[in-house]
Amino acid sequence: MDVVVVESAEEVAREAASRVTDLVRRHPTASIGLATGGTQLGLYRLLTDVYRRGQVSFADNQFFMLDEYAGILPTSTNSFQHVVRSEFLNHVDAAPRSLHVLDGTAHDLHAEAQRFEQILRDAGGVDMQLLGIGTNGHVGFNEPGSPPNSRTRLVRLHDDTIASNAPYFSSPAEVPRVAISQGLETIMKARSILLMAIGARKAKAVAEMIDGEITLECPASILQGHSGATVIVDSAAASLLASRV
Ligand code: PGA
Repeated sequence: MDVVVVESAEEVAREAASRVTDLVRRHPTASIGLATGGTQLGLYRLLTDVYRRGQVSFADNQFFMLDEYAGILPTSTNSFQHVVRSEFLNHVDAAPRSLHVLDGTAHDLHAEAQRFEQILRDAGGVDMQLLGIGTNGHVGFNEPGSPPNSRTRLVRLHDDTIASNAPYFSSPAEVPRVAISQGLETIMKARSILLMAIGARKAKAVAEMIDGEITLECPASILQGHSGATVIVDSAAASLLASRV
């Protein structure tokens, strides 16, 4: 796992955008796993800017969702597929059917998780998976205790995740308790992983992910075992790293 520490959230986004655009220029048909969360927004803005300047095309890429709430309509602003479309894909030349979604409104969510996992396998996995990290060390919705051999599945959200996501809803009661998420093994199959973290509230999770033992209590710590994982953090998120304190 490579760790890159930069000063600001803007630099985190810049560093990540340059890695994504490098990949897409080298490998125009690359498949990319897209994450949501406030941390990803700066990256999506920069990728849109680079596209508008004519410096990159996403026309031949395939995109895969990392996770999705159960029971939220795809048209809702809280739907993760809506977020990646409205913040990124709708502003670039991504092909209309290039986004492989997790349908949180599917009648049978277990079957939906298996369908997605199969599509991902048939596509040969992703070349690059984008990730954020939760204050509790989750990646995707793989909460503490998630098995390392987990595949895309139905998950129950922890209270701290519900609290973190409550500001996006009109009340905490409206935050879904259940979601579909790529599993830890699914994520580890990605050929490369780009995890971004910004802000002091992520410092403890970042330190546990990088300096701690590989443990179920910090799901992101599994990334220590991925040779193509890069973690890009700002100085606030890096403040508890052994190399900085
Ligand atoms: P955030 O979420 O980018 O909104 O902090 C990250 C996550 O919970 O994975």
